[in-house]
Amino acid sequence: MRMARERLDKVLATRGIGSRKEVGAQIRAGSVTVNGNPCRDPASKVDPECDAICVGGVPLRARKERYFMLNKPAGVLSATQDAEQQTVLDLFPACERKGLAPVGRLDKDTEGLLLLTDDGALNHALTAPRRHVAKRYRALISGTLADDAPQRFAQGVVLADGTVCRPAELQIGSRQPDGQTEVFVILWEGKYHQVKRMVAAVGGRVEYLERLEMGPLVLDDALERGQYRALQEAEIQALFQAVSR
Ligand code: URA
Repeated sequence: MRMARERLDKVLATRGIGSRKEVGAQIRAGSVTVNGNPCRDPASKVDPECDAICVGGVPLRARKERYFMLNKPAGVLSATQDAEQQTVLDLFPACERKGLAPVGRLDKDTEGLLLLTDDGALNHALTAPRRHVAKRYRALISGTLADDAPQRFAQGVVLADGTVCRPAELQIGSRQPDGQTEVFVILWEGKYHQVKRMVAAVGGRVEYLERLEMGPLVLDDALERGQYRALQEAEIQALFQAVSR
């Protein structure tokens, strides 16, 4: 899959070089090179992971670790390898896969935001039970939800097997032409099939599920299903802040 490329001025601004206006002026003045060549167009597209970008001869600080946002399509396992089925790592070119692992899991049929990194410490911090960051999902559900479903989510849903969930948010959206209901769910934990089991506990059935947000990360709507991009510096820093609280 193709890596999303970004505007040069945006890359420099998110790395803290200056405001969009300031870096635009630096670029036009010829003080920025991309792969050794001066680049005077703030709108030119670069790949901050692969292109060598220098400002006034100084390379942009390179991070060793890699952080990617993937728009996971349905039908792909959130695993690093599988003997028979396609995994999320198969959506990356072979040269990019080494050491990369998904942060948490989405079910095979769930779509949307999945973070992948080779930063084991951040992966651990984001998935540690006591630190779980908020995860926001959009679901289409069939069946009839209990009238008090949002209150039960807020108090902590009791699953069919007796497991008590942490308080969560359920926002009922609009009725779809096919009779399904759109809902938005925010969880602060990550149990197996959690959204599906919580919705089942209040009378519904999840027919479709996608993750829209994870902590400070918001699924980039420029990414098509199956496409990924490197996180911007500001996004990486926001993730570190989220786990340091
Ligand atoms: N909850 C689910 O039921 N499935 C997912 O993939 C994620 C959260």
